[in-house]
Amino acid sequence: MNKKKIKVSVIGAGRIGLKLEFDKKRLKPATHFGMWIKNKYTNLSSFCDKNSDSLKFAKRLNKKINYYFNYKKMIINEKPDIVSISTWKDTHYKIAKDCLNLGVKVIVLEKPLANNIKQAKKLLDLVKKKKAKILVNHRRRFDSEIIKLKNKINQGEIGEILQVSSYYVYGILTTGTHLIDTLRMLLNKKIGEVIKVIGFKNNLNNFKPKDDLNIDGYLFFEKNVVASIQSLDMKSYDNFDIIIHGTKGKIEITDIGRKILKYNIIKSPEHTGFTELSRQAKILTKSKPRNQFGMLSKNAVSCLKNKNNKSLCDEKDSYKDMLIIDCLLKSAKTNGKKIKI
Ligand SMILES: NC(=O)c1ccc[n+]([C@@H]2O[C@H](COP(=O)([O-])OP(=O)(O)OC[C@H]3O[C@@H](n4cnc5c(N)ncnc54)[C@H](O)[C@@H]3O)[C@@H](O)[C@H]2O)c1
Repeated sequence: MNKKKIKVSVIGAGRIGLKLEFDKKRLKPATHFGMWIKNKYTNLSSFCDKNSDSLKFAKRLNKKINYYFNYKKMIINEKPDIVSISTWKDTHYKIAKDCLNLGVKVIVLEKPLANNIKQAKKLLDLVKKKKAKILVNHRRRFDSEIIKLKNKINQGEIGEILQVSSYYVYGILTTGTHLIDTLRMLLNKKIGEVIKVIGFKNNLNNFKPKDDLNIDGYLFFEKNVVASIQSLDMKSYDNFDIIIHGTKGKIEITDIGRKILKYNIIKSPEHTGFTELSRQAKILTKSKPRNQFGMLSKNAVSCLKNKNNKSLCDEKDSYKDMLIIDCLLKSAKTNGKKIKI
C-alpha cells in the first residue's frame, strides 16, 4: 500500500456505492468504489455496509480492502482522509454528522443532502463549525458538457431567458432534487435564484419511493423567469428533459441530460415577416456519457489538498435545493399556494 496516497473509505456499497460498476452499459467509473480505485492519488482502503453480501463484489475490485459492519469503527480504525457516503437518503444526516464529529474533513455525499430541511440546516451548521467540505453528488455539476453549456448560456447563446420547462421521475426529493439543482446551476447567473414556488401533487403518477412525493410546480426566479417542473412515470420511461426558450433561440437538454440541442431562429416558410424556431437542431453535445465520477473524485482530492479549493456542489447549494423542495411540499399541502423561499 502506498503511504503517500490519500486514504478513502466508502459507507454504503449498494448500487451507486459499488454494484453499478458491474453494469456493462455504464461508462466507468460508475460508482463511488470505481472512482476511488481509478483515481491515482487515492487508496480505497476500506468500506462499510450493513449487508455483508457486498463484500464479494468489493473483493472483485480490490482484494486488499478491509470490510466493516459498523462505520464508526471503520473511521476510528482507518482514519480516512476522505469518506464517501452512498447510503439511502434517510441515513445521510446521521452518517454525515457522525463522520464530521469523528474529524473527517472531506465527505462525498450522495444526494440529497438530507431527508428534510431541519436535518439539512443542522448539517450546514456542523460543516461550517468543523471547517469541513462536503461534495454532494448532483452529477450534472460534475459534467463537463453541462458546465460548458452554463458558460454558453451566460455568454448569451440564446439571448435573454424567457421560459423554462423541465421533467423528472421518481420523487421530488429523490430525483427532482437533481433537476432543481441543475436548473439553478445552469441559470442562476443569468436569472438569479428561485424566490417563490407553487407546488401541487401529481395524481396520475404514483411511482416514487414511499417516503417521497411526485410534485409538479413552478419555480419563480428573481428576474421574473418561471420554470415549470413536471414529474413523469419512470415505469414508462426515465426522463430528465430541460427546455429553455430564449430571445435568440431554444436549448433542449435530452437523453437524461446527455444530449444538448440548439434551435436557431429562422424566417417563417409560411408567413411573410414572421420568424419561428428551426425544426433542424444544431447538436451542441452528442449523447455520449461524460466521466462525471472522475471529475467528482478529482474535485474531492483538490478540496483536501488545498483549503482554498471549492466543492463544485457544496452543502450551501444543496441546502438551497432542499429549501426549494421544502417550499414545494408546503405549497402542495395548501393546494398550490405561492410560497416565498
Ligand atoms: N447521484 C446519482 O446519480 C445517484 C444515482 C443512484 C442513487 N443515488 C443516491 O445514492 C443513494 C444510495 O442509492 P442506491 O440506489 O445505491 O441504494 P442501495 O439501497 O442500493 O444501497 C445503499 C446501501 O447502503 C447500505 N447501508 C444503509 N445504511 C447503512 C449503514 N448505516 N451502514 C452501512 N451501510 C448502510 C445498504 O445495506 C445498501 O447496501 C441514495 O441517496 C440515492 O438517491 C444517486
